Amino acid sequence: MAPLEVARVLARLRTTGVSLGRVHFFPAIASTQDEATRLAHAGAPEGTLVVAGRQTRGRGRVGRTWFSPAGAGLYASVVLRPPAPPAQWPALSVLAGVAVVEELQRQGVAGARLKWPNDALIEGRKVAGILTDAFPDAGFAVLGIGLNASFQGVEVPPDLAEVATDLETNLPPGTDLNDCAARVLLAVIAAYQRALPDLRVVPERAQRLLWTTGETVVGGVRGRVAGLTPSGELWLVEENGHAVAVSVGEVTDARGD
Ligand code: BTN
Repeated sequence: MAPLEVARVLARLRTTGVSLGRVHFFPAIASTQDEATRLAHAGAPEGTLVVAGRQTRGRGRVGRTWFSPAGAGLYASVVLRPPAPPAQWPALSVLAGVAVVEELQRQGVAGARLKWPNDALIEGRKVAGILTDAFPDAGFAVLGIGLNASFQGVEVPPDLAEVATDLETNLPPGTDLNDCAARVLLAVIAAYQRALPDLRVVPERAQRLLWTTGETVVGGVRGRVAGLTPSGELWLVEENGHAVAVSVGEVTDARGD
């Protein structure tokens, strides 16, 4: 498979019907998320996109780092100025996660699933992560996506190698990696634009993509996954039959892995 070249991904982005703002490309940057936040604070409009060839301080959720060497992935952040009430903004991450997984399935990756709220997994291994930083008082959010494209020739830290995968390993032969990466990014932006003026998840659509459908522990609540709410929360049914909508936390398989 031809290697990932961000310039080719960007060229592909411009040939589609999805409306994008100005694209800021950096061969190397600390974090596209931080740069997009800086630009948004300075007034950058909705759709402003920051893309990097590599990140030296890529950020993941809950204070983690995001492995971001050159050629291994797509690292992009987009400025959003949702007209929806801030109470609906938490749905952004789930909307984006659903869009990534649906797009991967469309591209023939049958094993793609959503690990609530917004990780894309393939056969249980993470291929993409989404980070949403919301600044409702300033009227914007920054949605970042890290997509593992190809780990070939890349020294992947052993702890990551155990739990992560890349597109190259999972796409049908003959797929263009750059095309695939561009389509995933566009799918996220298009899903956001389609959802407006509200930010709501379509529960039936998202539920069938869930990776965890059995016993789960989220934020201290143990229960059976029973679906999603339009706000993107996860319904858990506890042992006593009581249903709880959980809005934060990590999914842990109750069987212990
Ligand atoms: C996660 O923890 O799963 C979220 C990872 C998000 C990583 C992306 S890469 C582009 C953008 N810039 C960052 O520093 N982080 C996000």
